[in-house]
Amino acid sequence: MAGGGVSQFEELLDRLSEKARGDYYNPYTRFDWPASVPEDEWWMSPEFLSVHGTGVEWDEARLKRLAGRETVNFFSLNVHGIRELMIEVARRIHTPGFARYSDFLHHFLGEENEHMWFFAEFCDRYGGGVYPELPALPMDGGFPGRWADVAVFARIVIFEEIVDYLNSRMGRDGRLPPILRELNAVHHHDESRHVAFGKQFVKHLFDQAAEDDADGTRRAGLETYLKRYMTYSVNTLYNPRAYRDAGIPEPMAVRRAAMAHPARAAFHSKLLARVDKFFVANQIFASPWGGAGDADDE
Ligand SMILES: [Fe+2]
Ligand SMILES: [Fe+2]
Repeated sequence: MAGGGVSQFEELLDRLSEKARGDYYNPYTRFDWPASVPEDEWWMSPEFLSVHGTGVEWDEARLKRLAGRETVNFFSLNVHGIRELMIEVARRIHTPGFARYSDFLHHFLGEENEHMWFFAEFCDRYGGGVYPELPALPMDGGFPGRWADVAVFARIVIFEEIVDYLNSRMGRDGRLPPILRELNAVHHHDESRHVAFGKQFVKHLFDQAAEDDADGTRRAGLETYLKRYMTYSVNTLYNPRAYRDAGIPEPMAVRRAAMAHPARAAFHSKLLARVDKFFVANQIFASPWGGAGDADDE
């Protein structure tokens, strides 16, 4: 990769580490945890429910119950997703190829540990606990060497983009009780740094790995794997257990019907539009994953 690119990336790293130092907060005292969170309020913005736009004719009480359970699902996905990414980052920090990034990666690991804590804390206090992990694809995609690094950090960016799409909007939604607005907003604040780092880091790792891929086979394999992970990730938003716990009959049928609805495909492509565009623009993808969804930069 060109020397100019490296130094720009290194400047970004230093700036983000500096910002992380300035933004540092104590997560254990940061939030006012109320005695309870009213169940007749929207714990999640109704337009982010997994059945939104699919024409279900449910009353508001049922939709609010589902919002509560899908909040527990969303936060549980965060807990498990963070646990996995921390393992992979911890494997690499201070090893030869990653020494230059270790300072930022310390902030990253520290912040993710705190995020995992507050998401789990919410589920434990008000939601009856964290939902169990859903079966997942192997984190490094089974790729060798530098391609495994690209796969890991590309997955982290995909995961963080989905979460941040929702956090950034729900952090500003006045219908949500204050504790839920706060958790979403605080997470969004930290994640804006992670996403800025993550994309440039993936580009940097990819450019390095691509030096050993004259016929493009690895790149094509990576594209297939990441697209599978994108599909897997949006599918985890439809958890049959959340439907069941919300008292909805036939949760598996509800899941299937919701997932197959065209309105949902449009939403999925919106969730991942920015990262999909990023992969195409940097030749990591030969074609977009999600079709025509436009980046939404609000
Ligand atoms: Fe996080
Ligand atoms: Fe993050």
